[in-house]
Parts: sequence; C-alpha cells; structure tokens
Amino acid sequence: MVLPSYNLDRQRELIAMYPQQPLKGQFALVTGANSGIGEGCVRHLAAAGAGVVVNYVRGPEAADAIVADIVGSGGRAIAIMADVSNEEQVIAMFKQAVAEFGTLDIVVPNAGLQQDSKFENMTVAQWDLVMNVNLKGQFLCAREAVREFERRGFRDVSRALGKIVCMSSVHEVIPWAGHVNYAASKGGVKLFMQSLAQEISDRRIRVNSIAPGAIATPINKPAWDTDAAEAKLLDLIPYNRVGIPDDIGQACVWLASDASDYVVGTTLFVDGGMTLCEGFATGG
Ligand code: BGC
Repeated sequence: MVLPSYNLDRQRELIAMYPQQPLKGQFALVTGANSGIGEGCVRHLAAAGAGVVVNYVRGPEAADAIVADIVGSGGRAIAIMADVSNEEQVIAMFKQAVAEFGTLDIVVPNAGLQQDSKFENMTVAQWDLVMNVNLKGQFLCAREAVREFERRGFRDVSRALGKIVCMSSVHEVIPWAGHVNYAASKGGVKLFMQSLAQEISDRRIRVNSIAPGAIATPINKPAWDTDAAEAKLLDLIPYNRVGIPDDIGQACVWLASDASDYVVGTTLFVDGGMTLCEGFATGG
C-alpha cells in the first residue's frame, strides 16, 4: 500500500472534518509528532482547534514542515526538540511550551520505538532503549503534564482540568514473539495508565490510552509496503484494511475533547478488530 501523505491541502481537509472546533482555545503537546501516529495526532488536534507542540528528537525538517502546514492553514504550532527519556529535556520542553502558549490542556505521550530481536540475542541496549522511550518517556511527560494542570487550575475551555492520552498498542494485550521488549513496554503502559488514572481522576484529570493495531507508519514499513507483506498482515485484521495515522488522530481528538468527558482510565482499541484474534474465525 502507499501511505497517504500530509501537506497543506490535506491539513485544510482535516480542518473541514471539525466544523465545531471541539478543541478551540486549548493547547496540546504530542511527543514523537514528526512522523507516523504522532503526526496524525498532532495534525488532527490542530485541525480540531488546538494550538500544538510538535515534539521530535531527530528530524527537525519534518517537524518544521508540519508546523508550516498548521500555521499556513490558520492554526498555531511550534516544534520543540526533546528526548522523552531525558528528564531535563522533558522539563525544559514543558517550560518552553508553557512560555509560548501559557499552558497545556492535552498531553499525548506518543513517542515509541521498536528494537526487535530474537530473545537470546537481545542486548541490554535494545531492552533499555525501548523501555526508556516507550515507558519512562510516558512517565516523564505525564508527570510534567499533571504538574502543569495543577499549577494552572481550571479554565473554561474544558470540563476536565487536563487530559492525557497515552499511546499504547494492541501489544498491551497481545503477546508478541520476537518483540519481547516492545510488548513488555506496552504491557507496562497499560498498568501505568490505569494506575495513574486511579490516582488522579478525582482531580478531574482524565487519563486514557489508545491502542493502535497495524497502522502503516515507518515503524512497521516492512509489514505493509509490498503486496505480499500487506496480504499477510491483513490475515490478522478482521476489518481487512491496514490502518492509517488519520484513524488514530481522529480517536485522539475524541479522547482529548469533552465528548469523552466520562471516559476515564480506558484503553480505546483502534485496530480493525486485530484483538479479536482472527485466527479463531475458522477454528478453535
Ligand atoms: C507495532 C507495529 C505492529 C502493530 C500490530 C504496533 O504496536 O509498533 O509494528 O504492526 O503493533 O502488530
């Protein structure tokens, strides 16, 4: 399949999807927002009316291009470089975001990566990198988010004090051979999100996760970029379509908006039915 690309015209089309501008007056930060699912989220949040921070760690050109499309279509956006696994850099990023926008209402700890390996060959470096970005990164960003929501107090743009949308994966429940570090990190995100929601929901901070299935992005390119690979992937997807970043961006807008105000501590699976275990459709 060919991944649909984003540009200024596409950004204008996204804006037309949100005529009621549900996030108007709010400010959102998305980590790992210069490609893939993060880009889908940040473009949709901006299209729905939010001012956005496009975080990236490598690839400033891609982040700048996203900012240019959002600003060019009448929105507000800035790019900020920070490694989400580095405490000082995360703190500095939030400081810069608040200096620019005044506050943040929505934080999407999305940055994530894979370091796949046969288990007995997996190095400590591969284990640590995945855990540091996928799990510690979510902890550091969510912690700064909570601190900022508390500092700023309620304002009249949302019923919640703040919203955190963690990017998980179907692999928070589906075991994944050959990807033990990644599946362990996403299993961690599941209880991280739920425990945090349990701890802070009474302060009107909503914490939820999105668990994407197979979304065509750079992280899984070999799984969809040839016809043979795509056919094999579709065997795992009852809905028979590989996802695209827009599928996740739309879910992200809903979880960040007051339309989901009573949704707390939940994982929203956006996976074309991947978690239905397609293999059992004809057997078992
Ligand atoms: C992984 C992808 C994979 C998908 C479905 C995601 O979390 O990053 O590589 O295609 O799960 O298995």
